[in-house]
Amino acid sequence: MRRHFLALTLTLTVAVFVAGIKNQVSDGKIVFGVWFDGTTDISGNDTTARVNDRLGFNAGAFHSWQMIPPLPAPQFAPLQNADGTVNFDLYNEGTNAAVFLTVYPQGLYNVTDTDILNLAAQCNKISALGRNVFVRFAPEMNGDWFVYGNNATAFIPLWKNFYTLMSNNAPQVAIVWSPNYNGPDSNEPYDPYWPGAAYVDWVGLSLYWKGFVADWPWQVNKAAPSNYVAQIIDAQGPEGGSVSFYKTYAVAYNKPFVISETGAAFNENIVNTNGSLTPISPGPGHVNLTMSFWDSFLFNQEFLTTYPLFKMVFSFELYKVEDSVQRDFRALTDPTLSPFVAGLQTLDNMGLISWANSAVQSSETTTSTSTASTQSSTSSQKSTANMIQLPIYTLLFMLVVMLK
Ligand SMILES: *[C@@H]1O[C@H](CO)[C@@H](O)[C@H](O)[C@H]1NC(C)=O
Ligand SMILES: *[C@@H]1O[C@H](CO)[C@@H](O)[C@H](O)[C@H]1NC(C)=O
Ligand SMILES: *[C@@H]1O[C@H](CO)[C@@H](O)[C@H](O)[C@H]1NC(C)=O
Ligand SMILES: *[C@@H]1O[C@H](CO)[C@@H](O)[C@H](O)[C@H]1NC(C)=O
Ligand SMILES: *[C@@H]1O[C@H](CO)[C@@H](O)[C@H](O)[C@H]1NC(C)=O
Repeated sequence: MRRHFLALTLTLTVAVFVAGIKNQVSDGKIVFGVWFDGTTDISGNDTTARVNDRLGFNAGAFHSWQMIPPLPAPQFAPLQNADGTVNFDLYNEGTNAAVFLTVYPQGLYNVTDTDILNLAAQCNKISALGRNVFVRFAPEMNGDWFVYGNNATAFIPLWKNFYTLMSNNAPQVAIVWSPNYNGPDSNEPYDPYWPGAAYVDWVGLSLYWKGFVADWPWQVNKAAPSNYVAQIIDAQGPEGGSVSFYKTYAVAYNKPFVISETGAAFNENIVNTNGSLTPISPGPGHVNLTMSFWDSFLFNQEFLTTYPLFKMVFSFELYKVEDSVQRDFRALTDPTLSPFVAGLQTLDNMGLISWANSAVQSSETTTSTSTASTQSSTSSQKSTANMIQLPIYTLLFMLVVMLK
């Protein structure tokens, strides 16, 4: 009897572990997600409902962000509450879109266990509504532009503690390790920051088309090379570094890969030191430039076939000043909205996109011991998990028989 119990416990544990790619997306599908601007800036006053209206589909995921510990920042209302946590009401628009929460540490040394437990509790509340939750912790840690960046020695223990506490207290949340893409000069290497496969659920990258490396600081507009994103993620050309992120981290450890933030920058104006604006030549034009980038991966059959672990992407729907240039990263506004949505429609016709359902499904619970299993938002995701569990159950049934 005891042996049976032991074997059963083992069965469930192993099944959960093996089936345990958190928030797995069905084979052959991609989740199209949006980082929208809820502030009152130029690209602002956007909402999830407005995004879905423009798309004509329900985006599969929405990006949001906060600091850890939360830092009140009135300029980010209504995206954030007065206490600096994400205003989830803005994301609770009646679909079951996944919630992709970027969490920026305030520093390398002052994120406490209590802060992490508070975040876990916050995520559990969102999961309880039947939403898949992702947390992208300390993104772009391999660059020197964030206060927590550019220090692998201090980063690794911070990450491991974060992952351990989150996975113990909010086991259904997928933790995303997401550095900045490393270019040919190798200023932002990945490997010093890799905490090990046991501490990562999904791998991701920030990557953008702003121009060729040689054209920095990007005060010109040029179309992207037709394989630009493969150059970046898989060392397939001069714009990328020498290490294939996709093979080294996604393929080697069978981790789903998300392009966590992305877009093509249409470089509009140089902001001069006296505040005046100097227009930048449109080059090939806004539509051509933006679509050349998205055509290099999302709207590209060969890319999708070559990189099946590419499961999710977030379009950065913002207009912002960077390196003294006004850049429009948006795809989901004029003049690019219509060709972009046509691209999505084509993918949808081929059944390649996993959209959100318009009503939140009640979360399905499996067994009482399998708290680590994921809440699947579609029945096809559910059956993928079951398919993986089946052979394990068979195997362990044999083990039970042997123990007898
Ligand atoms: C957003 O709303 C604010 C307040 O109503 C307004 O001042 C601002 O111009 C709006 N911005 C955009 C981009 O619509
Ligand atoms: C954490 O440390 C950073 C960098 O040293 C500092 O800017 C921030 O104010 C600190 N935050 C807290 C809550 O201690
Ligand atoms: C990086 O972190 C280590 C360990 O905490 C610390 O000793 C070192 O001073 C940090 N380096 C920088 C450049 O901050
Ligand atoms: C501001 O700076 C730009 C670029 O240096 C210059 O062309 C322009 O004349 C200046 N405008 C004024 C009002 O000084
Ligand atoms: C952009 O323009 C070039 C040159 O006319 C053309 O070859 C290319 O197909 C265009 N790309 C898009 C996405 O419109």
